Amino acid sequence: MARINDNFLKLKAGYLFPEIARRTAAFMTAHPDAAVIRMGIGDVTEPLPAAIRQAMHAAVDDLGRHETFHGYGPERGYPWLREAIAANDFQSRGCAIEPDEIFISDGSKCDTANILDILAVGQNRIAVTDPVYPVYVDTNVMAGNTGAADDGGYAGLIYLPATADSGFVPDLPSQPVDVIYLCSPNNPTGAVIPRTALARWVDYAREHDALILYDAAYEAYIRDANLPHSIYEVEGAREVAIEFRSFSKNAGFTGVRCGLTVVPRELKGRAADGTTVDLHSLWNRRQSTKFNGASYVVQRGAAAAYSDEGRTQIRALIDHYMANATLIRATLADLGLTAYGGENAPYVWLQTPNAGGTRLTSWAFFDKLLSETHIVGTPGSGFGAAGEGYFRLSAFNSRDNVEQACDRLRKRLKL
Ligand code: MLT
Repeated sequence: MARINDNFLKLKAGYLFPEIARRTAAFMTAHPDAAVIRMGIGDVTEPLPAAIRQAMHAAVDDLGRHETFHGYGPERGYPWLREAIAANDFQSRGCAIEPDEIFISDGSKCDTANILDILAVGQNRIAVTDPVYPVYVDTNVMAGNTGAADDGGYAGLIYLPATADSGFVPDLPSQPVDVIYLCSPNNPTGAVIPRTALARWVDYAREHDALILYDAAYEAYIRDANLPHSIYEVEGAREVAIEFRSFSKNAGFTGVRCGLTVVPRELKGRAADGTTVDLHSLWNRRQSTKFNGASYVVQRGAAAAYSDEGRTQIRALIDHYMANATLIRATLADLGLTAYGGENAPYVWLQTPNAGGTRLTSWAFFDKLLSETHIVGTPGSGFGAAGEGYFRLSAFNSRDNVEQACDRLRKRLKL
């Protein structure tokens, strides 16, 4: 019989979103007439922009003719897409990122997980924020970088609490770390790391030879012109940071699948014999061995996001979701609930209400919200111990659903 990877047995009961789906399904079986509104998982709801659809249709036609047929693509992605990304997402913001430092993939979730392939197992002191996007933690558990779980988290990981007092921006670690995961705009809190704080992180990483894994999947939601969209806007970041980006949340690609990872040429890691090795070569080797790239059709669709029409249509999509976030925040404020986020991110992070003088746990509020209003959200404790007493509502929804949800919150939530 094949031996399994025992690290999987350390994982807590279930990945957060399947657990929410399980509880929601049980509720719907018990209440078949309830019209449940899902504001849990951050999955887009609106159709793909027309410019992207047209580009994908044309790409399918390319594949139907000998002269324009494409088989395996270049391992890092098509140059026309990488050039568009480098110019529009980075160089336009003063970040010196070259197209050959960009690796196109099937999504940033996969890349934030797969990056562990090029790092040693059990040799790095790994820091995550708390609350945290669960993928960073669970993939480290699977890789064997942690001990067992207890109520506070997994042994071996360094948790950096991101609390309301600090605007949900984590402080620098008080002990040396080798790898740090940062997510900005943050999933789940919706907070964005300001430029000065990001510069402190880059300085810390340079001083301690640490690697920052910077997840910027939600950067398109930043509205405040003073906030950084990329870690490479900070001087020196090329030496210490890998950045992950996605077309999921801006262009609506959660079902289409396309993302990218930037690995600057200067970035180094250390081998067991003490020599330094560039991470760009390692990631290139990893991707070309284990991955055959995002499809030609998908990459043509992603490139259309940078056309004039594509940009205008994507801006309208983002405006739509952000108007939802504004409605949600206004409703929560009217109900006297404390809420954060939703201003530069599609997530609203609220403090659970008190019941009988005690703050409801995140899962107790999940159940209350579902039973009283038939709305599904995400319990903050699913993102880490510091998320207890908080709850995430996603603004990814139709306007009609959000208006109905706000109406139900006002009329049916018993506070
Ligand atoms: C979420 O709800 O946190 C997101 O859907 C996660 C993801 O993008 O993988």
